[in-house]
Order: sequence, then structure tokens, then C-alpha cells
Amino acid sequence: MSVRMSVDVPAGLTDLLKGYTLEVLKQRPVDLLEFAVQHFTSLRERRSFTIRSRSPVTRGVAFDQDSAPTDEEEEEHGEEKEEEEEEEDDFPDDFTFKAPPPSKCNRRVSVCAEAYNPDEDEDEAGESKVIHYKTKAQHQRLQEACRDILLFKTLEQDQFAEVLDSMFEVLVKPHDSIINQGDDGDNFYVIERGVFDILIQKDGSSCCVGRYDNKGSFGELALMYNTPRAATIRAAQEGALWALDRATFHRLIVRNNAKKRKMYERFIESVPLLKSLQLSERMKIVDVLGMKSFRDGELIIRQGDSADCFYIVESGEVRIMIRSRTSAGQRSEQELEVARCTRGQYFGELALVTNKPRAASVYAAGETRCLVIDVQAFERLLGSCKQILKRNIWQYEQQLMAVFGSSVDIKR
Ligand code: CMP
Ligand code: CMP
Repeated sequence: MSVRMSVDVPAGLTDLLKGYTLEVLKQRPVDLLEFAVQHFTSLRERRSFTIRSRSPVTRGVAFDQDSAPTDEEEEEHGEEKEEEEEEEDDFPDDFTFKAPPPSKCNRRVSVCAEAYNPDEDEDEAGESKVIHYKTKAQHQRLQEACRDILLFKTLEQDQFAEVLDSMFEVLVKPHDSIINQGDDGDNFYVIERGVFDILIQKDGSSCCVGRYDNKGSFGELALMYNTPRAATIRAAQEGALWALDRATFHRLIVRNNAKKRKMYERFIESVPLLKSLQLSERMKIVDVLGMKSFRDGELIIRQGDSADCFYIVESGEVRIMIRSRTSAGQRSEQELEVARCTRGQYFGELALVTNKPRAASVYAAGETRCLVIDVQAFERLLGSCKQILKRNIWQYEQQLMAVFGSSVDIKR
């Protein structure tokens, strides 16, 4: 005898679970439970929203599925909406959910990091924009975390705003693997807080080659070059990340890289330090570099600080200043200029090569633009230039002797 059980599925349950499942597939969170808490909390918050107050970053484009208001929500907030109708001109009439393009994560074209051509991949990125709702506090934390991310430095303002809109929070626990070496790339990550180890498998054993300490970003390589993940990234403690999905990364960052290559190709070729590199190696540097502008007199590097990046002067000039210590060990009040760097010259390598604090302060002399490379990219891409860098360090001792003379003990 067969028993038939009739179960009443509460209205809305299927849609709720579908929405959650869709987001999981899209974002591939490390911790499903934590993600569920975030997802449903965010849905609940949104239930009582008005279109205008929903997000400080909403920019009137297509929304991801769970951002789109339901009919009940529309009714519930009909009055508020009417009041605001006049202001809603920048909101599209065709306010519909656009499904994100299917991931082509498993379509690996090569493992040799060839230049990615965004024009060949127009439909992957599509033009659909995904907005993840954020509270005001979340948005502030996100902005702070992204302030110094080099990959975002060459974006136009509206592109940067779009990047922020698309990012979503990922909370991690100690020992979580955010990225596994060899996997396909899904997201790019910006660190809000936490310490993350960089592990690389070599000859069957895992070797820690570096560490992100409460700042920086990772996960760009697999997305830029359509290669397997080049390293494992593991949380050493509890932390928080902001993730940018692959499709948006392609649409905004990778396309911008094509522009960057055009802009900087010539200049990078002319930098004496990089002459020994192959063209593809120089282009990989261009892909990850950022650009920073400084006003006359602005401090770029402070003597004694810990170092996380390397600079090449693109235009203008910088002054290298040193505050010496006397033989009695007292820090001199006065900073003396020991050198200047102009277009094509580099600075900020010494602390990265010696693993010591910054040996000098560096100031802009007039309006100055510098290309900036972070320490991880410096290690990865400029390894073969290290001999040249080390060879040039002896000049610093000579400069110091010339400026301070032999009577001063310069403990840097
Ligand atoms: P991706 O290959 O997408 O995933 C692993 C990430 O680790 C990689 O991108 C880089 O962002 C980051 N990473 C940091 N240091 C290294 C390194 N030495 N080699 C490879 N990847 C590194
Ligand atoms: P870093 O120590 O990382 O930061 C300050 C930079 O100033 C240093 O790297 C060098 O690139 C640059 N510099 C130029 N001349 C000198 C000098 N005589 N002594 C120390 N640093 C110098």
C-alpha cells in the first residue's frame, strides 16, 4: 500500500530558497552558513526599504534578483514611492532582473598567462550590472578597504563606483582556504581585515611565500589570464574580505587593462631597469600596476615605515631625504636631500629587497605621477631584476658619504 503524504509548502519558500541557491552558485562563498545568515539578513533589511534609501550606492541600473522589489514590497511602499517619483528619473523604466552571464570558469584557454583580449569575450561580461545591497557602515568599510587597491587606481570615477556596487562581503574564519591553487578563478578579493598566508605547492610540499597583513588584494591572476589559481590563500585568523565576481572583474578591470597597456607600453619599454625583461613580462607588470599622483611637497614614503610597494616616476620629480642619527644615537631634526629621481627612475625598492624599514623619506618635487607596484607583484615579476637592484644599492652609500661625511653614523 502506498502512502501519499501531502505537504503544504508555504508560499514564498521555494522562491526564497531558489534566490539563496542562485547567489551561492554565483558567489561561491567559503562558508555557506555564514553566507546564508548574511543573505537572509540582507533580504529582511530590504523588505522595509524604499527604493531611494535602499542603498547609498544604488545607481539606477539592473539589479540582481534578490535586490528587485517584489510586488508586495512595491505595494507596501507605494506611497513613499509616489512621493519620490519626481526624483526617480535616473531610475530605469525597464527595472528587471538580468541574470548574470553563465560562468565560463572551466573554459581554461591556457596556463601561460597570455594577454587576455577583452574584445574576444564581449558576451561573457555582457553589460549587465549587479548591485549588492550594503548598509551605510558596510559601504564605508568597503570604501576604506579599496582606497589603496592599485588595480582600481586607473579606473574612471564611475567605473570605480560600479566596482564598489558589485562587491559583496565574505567573512572568513581561521584556516579557511579562500582560494585553492589549481582551481578555476571565481572572484577577486580585497582585504578589509585579517591576515592571509600565500601558499605555493612545490615538489609536493606547500611553501608559504608571503602574507597579506590587513590590507591588499588577491585573486586577480586567474581572472586576468584565464589560468588556474597560482597559489592557495588561507586565512591565518578571523577576517573580512570584499569579493568582486569574475564577470564584473572582466567587464571593468580587464577592459581597463587593455587601455592601460596602450597607455604605458611605450613608457615601460623605456624604463632602464625593465629593459632586460621580455615584452610579455613587462605587460604583466602593466596589468597590475597602479598610478598615483602627488602634489608638490607631498610625502610619498616616510623613513622608518614598513614597506609594501615600489615606485617608478612617470612624470615630475621626487626628492630623497634622509634624517640621520648622530654617533650618540640621537635622531637629527634635519632631513637632508641625498638624491632626486625623475621620469623612468625608480625608488622604494631598498626596503623590499632588504626586508628592512624604509631607509629614506621621499617627497614630490612639483606635481608628480608615479606608477606603483605592490610587494607581491614586485616579488613575482621583478625577481629577475633583483640583481640589478642590488648592484645599484652601493650608490646609496656613496651618496650618504657625500652628504653626511664620514663623521656621522648613519643607522637606517
Ligand atoms: P590567482 O592566481 O588568481 O589566485 C591566487 C592569488 O595569489 C594570485 O592570483 C595572486 O593574486 C596571489 N599571489 C600572491 N603572491 C603570489 C605569488 N608569488 N605567486 C602567485 N600568486 C600570488
Ligand atoms: P626604500 O628604503 O624602500 O625607501 C626609500 C627609498 O629612497 C629607498 O628605498 C631608495 O629607493 C631611495 N634612495 C635613494 N637614495 C638613497 C640613499 N642614498 N639611501 C637610501 N635610500 C635611497
